[in-house]
Amino acid sequence: MKKNTLPLPLLGGITVDQFLKEYWHKKPLLIRQAVPGFQPLIPKAELFAMAARDDVESRLISFINQHWEMKAGPQEKLPLKEKKDWTLLVQGVNLHDDQADTLLRQFRFIPDSRLDDLMISFATDGGGVGPHFDSYDVFLLQAHGQRKWRIGAQKDLTLIEGMPLKILRNFKAEQEFILEPGDMLYLPPKYAHDGIAIGECMTYSIGFRAPSFQELGESFLHFMSDSIDLPGRYADPDLTASSRPAEISNDMLEQVGAEIAKIQFTDDDVLIFLGEHLTEPKPSVFFNGPEKPLTPKRFEQTARKNGIKLSRKSQMLYKGKHIFINGESFAVGKEDKICLNKLANDRQLDGSDLAAVSADAMEAFCLWYEDGWLEIR
Ligand code: SIN
Ligand code: CO
Repeated sequence: MKKNTLPLPLLGGITVDQFLKEYWHKKPLLIRQAVPGFQPLIPKAELFAMAARDDVESRLISFINQHWEMKAGPQEKLPLKEKKDWTLLVQGVNLHDDQADTLLRQFRFIPDSRLDDLMISFATDGGGVGPHFDSYDVFLLQAHGQRKWRIGAQKDLTLIEGMPLKILRNFKAEQEFILEPGDMLYLPPKYAHDGIAIGECMTYSIGFRAPSFQELGESFLHFMSDSIDLPGRYADPDLTASSRPAEISNDMLEQVGAEIAKIQFTDDDVLIFLGEHLTEPKPSVFFNGPEKPLTPKRFEQTARKNGIKLSRKSQMLYKGKHIFINGESFAVGKEDKICLNKLANDRQLDGSDLAAVSADAMEAFCLWYEDGWLEIR
C-alpha cells in the first residue's frame, strides 16, 4: 500500500492524502495527542543559550503597559522567568539539534522545497505574540505546559499600525482550544490566531515557506544578469545635428529596445535558478567542516565502508539531470543521478550505494565533506 494512503498518527489517524485534500491551505485541524507523551526535545536553559548565539535567529516579545515590544537576537539577557507576559521565539532550531531536525523531517510528506524550519517559543504565563495571521501554513505542536489558542477565519486582516510586530486590529475568535503537551494544531495561511500561555509553556512551530512571486522575480533577474550576453555597443553613424539636445532620440530608444528584447530565458534557466534559490542557505547559516579532515583517499575508503549523510544544515533538491545543494547546481550522468537523488531524498547513503559513483561525484562528496555539507556516518 502507498504510504500516503495509510492513516498517520501525527495527523490524528487520517491519511496524508486526506489531510492534503481536506485541510492543507483550507481549514484548521486540531489533533489531540499527535505525538503521544511528547516531551520538550531541548531543555529551556539550552534554548536560552541558543538564543544568545549570533548564528541563531531569535526574537524576544513582551507586552508592557498595553504596548508590544520586540527585540531581535542575540539575546544576552532575558527577563526574569517570574515576570509575566513575555515570549522568546527561537528560529531554525532544527539547524542546531539532531532531535529537532528529526522532528521537522517527520513532516516531509510536504516537499523539502516547501518545508522551512522548526521554531520554538518559550512563554511565561500570559505570554504570546498577540492576535495575528501568518502568510504560511503552520503546525503548532505543544511541547510543555498549556497554551490557549483562539482562532478565526476572518477576512478583515487589517493590522494595527506602528507596532513592532503584526497585530490584528479587529481579531474575532470563532473557536478556542487548550493544547496540552503532544497536541497539535494545523493552521492554513492567513488564518487569524492568538496563542496565550497558561503558566509557563513551550510551543514548537513547524513552518513552511512560500516565496512571493515578487521575491522570485527580483532574484531571477539577478540570476540572469550572470548569463545574459549582448555583444556590441550603441552607435549612431547617421547622427544629425540636434536642435533639442536634452531629448532622447527615437533611434536610441528603438536600438536599445531591440537589444533588450533579445534577452530570453529557457525552462532550464528557470529550473536552475529555482533550485539554486531554494537551496541557498539563510544568511545566518554557517557550515563547520571537520577540524582535521581525512585525506581524499581516506575519505573515499571510509565513505565506501560507512556511508555518508547530509549535514542538518544542508539543503539538497533535484529535478531531471540537475542537482542542487546549498545554492549550487550541476548536471549529472545517469549513474550519479541515481545515487545523488537517493542522497537528496534519504539524506544519507550506505557505503554500498557509492559502488557505482563516478570519480567526479566522489571528488564532489569529498569537497562537501571538507566544507561541512556532509559527514561520514
Ligand atoms: C508562538 O509559538 O508563540 C507563536 C506561534 C504562532 O503564532 O505562529
Ligand atoms: Co502565528
